[in-house]
Formats: sequence, C-alpha cells, structure tokens
Amino acid sequence: MLTEAQSVLHTWCRQTEWNAPTLVGGAGAHLFTSDGRRILDMSSLAECSNLGHQHPRLIEAIRRQAERLCFVTNAWGAEPRARLAELLLEKAGFAGGRVFFTLGGADANEHAVKFARQACSRPRGWIITRDRSYHGASYAAMALSGDARTVDQTDAETFRVRHVPPPYAYRCPFADTPPQECARAALQNLADTLAAMRGDVAAVLMEPHAGTNGIVAPPEYWPGLRTVTRQHDVLLIADEVMSGFGRCGEWFAWQRYGEEGRPDLMSLAKGLTGAHLPLGAVVIAAPVARRLEPQMLMTGLTYSGHPLACAAGVAAIETYQQEGLIERSRRLGATLFQELQQMQKRVSLIGEVRGGQGLFAVLELVRDRQTRQPLAAWPQLHPALSVLLRRALERGVSFAARGNLVILAPPLVIGEQDLADALGLLEQLLLAAQQEIGP
Ligand SMILES: Cc1ncc(COP(=O)(O)O)c(C=O)c1O
Repeated sequence: MLTEAQSVLHTWCRQTEWNAPTLVGGAGAHLFTSDGRRILDMSSLAECSNLGHQHPRLIEAIRRQAERLCFVTNAWGAEPRARLAELLLEKAGFAGGRVFFTLGGADANEHAVKFARQACSRPRGWIITRDRSYHGASYAAMALSGDARTVDQTDAETFRVRHVPPPYAYRCPFADTPPQECARAALQNLADTLAAMRGDVAAVLMEPHAGTNGIVAPPEYWPGLRTVTRQHDVLLIADEVMSGFGRCGEWFAWQRYGEEGRPDLMSLAKGLTGAHLPLGAVVIAAPVARRLEPQMLMTGLTYSGHPLACAAGVAAIETYQQEGLIERSRRLGATLFQELQQMQKRVSLIGEVRGGQGLFAVLELVRDRQTRQPLAAWPQLHPALSVLLRRALERGVSFAARGNLVILAPPLVIGEQDLADALGLLEQLLLAAQQEIGP
C-alpha cells in the first residue's frame, strides 16, 4: 500500500522531507491525530480555521444542503448563493454591490483584478502590489505576490503587475525611520509610481493587515492608500483572504479605519467558511458593480457559488455573529499582544512583536536586538526554529513559522487557558532556542 508521503505532492515543501502526522478529527481549537494525540492548533491550520475544527453548526448546514441539492451551475439560481451574497454585502456595508464566488483566495484575487480592469475600461491596465506580499500561487496570483518563494517563477511585468516597496517599518526599505515616516515614504513611493504610469494603472491590490509575510503596516498606511488611489483615479482592492472574518478583530480588516479605509473591491476566502469547504469571493462596491452590469462578464468557473460551499458560508457568518467571535478575537487578541510584549522583555531572541488587532500576532526573531540582525536570511528557517516547532508538537501544540517569523493565529474559539498555556510553552521553547544558539 502506498503511503501519503509516497503518493501525494504536498505544498511548500521538499517532497522527500514531508513527514507529517495524519489528522483524523478535530474539535474547537484542537486537532486529533491517527495515533491518538490531541494537538492545540495555534495557527488555525493555514490561518483559515477561524471557527475551530468541525464546528457543529457548519457540519449541520452542509449536511442539510447536501440532502437538498449539492450543485447547480450559474445558469440557475441557488438559494444559499443568494443568501451568502446578501450577507457579505451587508457585513461589508457594500449596499448595491455584487459578489462573484470563486474556489479560493488565488482565483478571488485574479478575478478582482479582472473586474477592476474591466470596470475601468483598461483591460490590460497595470496592477500595483507590494514586495513581501502573498496573494496566491496560481500564475497570475504569483505575479501579484511579492513573495520570495515564487518571485522567480513568473515575470510580474508580463502580467502587467508592478511591485512597490512595503511599509515594513522594522526594516524600512526607504530609511531607518519611525513607523509613521516609513508609511509616509511608502505612500509617497506609490504616489510617484502612479504619477509616472499615469492612466495605465487599473488598481492597487494589497493586504490591509495580516499576512504570512509578517508585515503589519503602520496604521497610517491603509487610509493613506485610499487617499492616494482616489487622487490617481485607480481602484483599491483589499486582499482580505487572511485578514477577514475576525482575524483582525473586525469582519474585514479595513473596517478598523471606517469610511477612510473602504476599498472598491475585496477578495475573500479562508474564514469565509472557516475552511469547512473551499470557497472564495470578490465583493464589489456599488459604483464598480454599476459599471460591470451592462457589460458581458468574460469569465466562468464551473463551481462558482457552489451551493454546499455557500451553505457553509452562510452558517459561518451566522456563527461568527451568534457566538460573538469578532469581539472575542478583539478581546483575546489584545491579551495575546500584551502577553507577547511581556515575553519580549524576557526573551532577547524576539526582535519585534507585531499585531494587537484580533487574534493575529507575529514575532520577528533576531540574533541581536540592537542591530536587528536576522536569525536567518529571509526566507530561510533557522534550524533552531525547526527544532522549536518539533518540540512544541511533541508537547501537543502546533505553531506556524515562516523564515524568522512565528505567526500566532489560533482559532477564534480557543479557550483562554489553552492560549495562556501555549504562550507559556512558546516562551520556554524560545528561551531554550536562545541558549542553544548562543551569543
Ligand atoms: C492574503 C492571502 N491572499 C491570498 C491567498 C491565497 O489563497 P488560496 O490559498 O485559497 O488560493 C492567501 C493564502 O494564504 C493569503 O494569505
């Protein structure tokens, strides 16, 4: 019999090194392995299981829809599709807008770009994104991403995508300045880029907050993006694939800035069904939707708005709401951030703690806090960090790391004691790693 390690190609790893336990179940923030172990999930798998694992409401909604009708194409209406679109427009405050359903985040971003270009009658209009961003791994999504892992696999410019430097305040690409200044410099750079490409740009696409590239922009940045994009008459697309659905303490991360942060389009996935079924969406504001409505929509996905996935999406939104999970994320996220800041005082390996809005935080690890010398060259994982992850798993906790970053994004339903225990373990393991790495 073939094992999974022999038969499947797994993502983002060398196949010869893949050696993961098999999961057979889950409940709340815990996962169960085939050898009977219980693992606390501190990353919501791929920052997507915001509702925890096997949420009974979701299972029930999927079961009920499966018994009625599993599938219809877009040539027919589907009740859960219509209901989910209505709920998304309501939660986003996009009255009069429209929703296009995709299968995940990458195709949501590709479609957001397609719609933005079509709406502004620039079918080959340029799209501006950031270095150190992630928007998916299909070809166009790789071109949109400024991700070290895939940047050599596509020529972004052939997709008419240009990357600008990020507001990465800890290592500001412009100068060693305070965060506010770094944000201002990044915005000025974007404004200069838009001015130089006058009339050729369709949209700016960026993550409003959380991202696996570990950048949490200073608070001035997103509202500043809105201002600059308006001044240059280009659309603003918020990639909320990871930051949406409570991850950053709001339904959508841009809502933290109110009307000053409102994008023209949003791409969604992950928390949309809490990963119970694959689903993505592009939510389109009314003025953009009005421009698209009389035109032929030159796109199609067989499974767009799949009824099972949409039923899961409706149940997910009801669950976030009824269980107060957005507020819970905000509250526990504040505690998480404070605890990590305290931890930083005791663990010199922690160069910076980022986050503070919702249950999402990033630790950037350094060799030397004064010089900010990275633990390993980006995007490599230092062996000590691999060891830390393995030890944590042996102790029943799964943490996520990328390069020098530890990314903390547990399900929003995580128990307070579980969260505290996981942070206690993380501190112990970081101190051990620090000692092993030495001065
Ligand atoms: C911000 C962001 N955009 C897009 C994607 C791609 O989503 P998917 O893996 O569903 O294609 C991801 C996935 O991690 C993401 O974090």
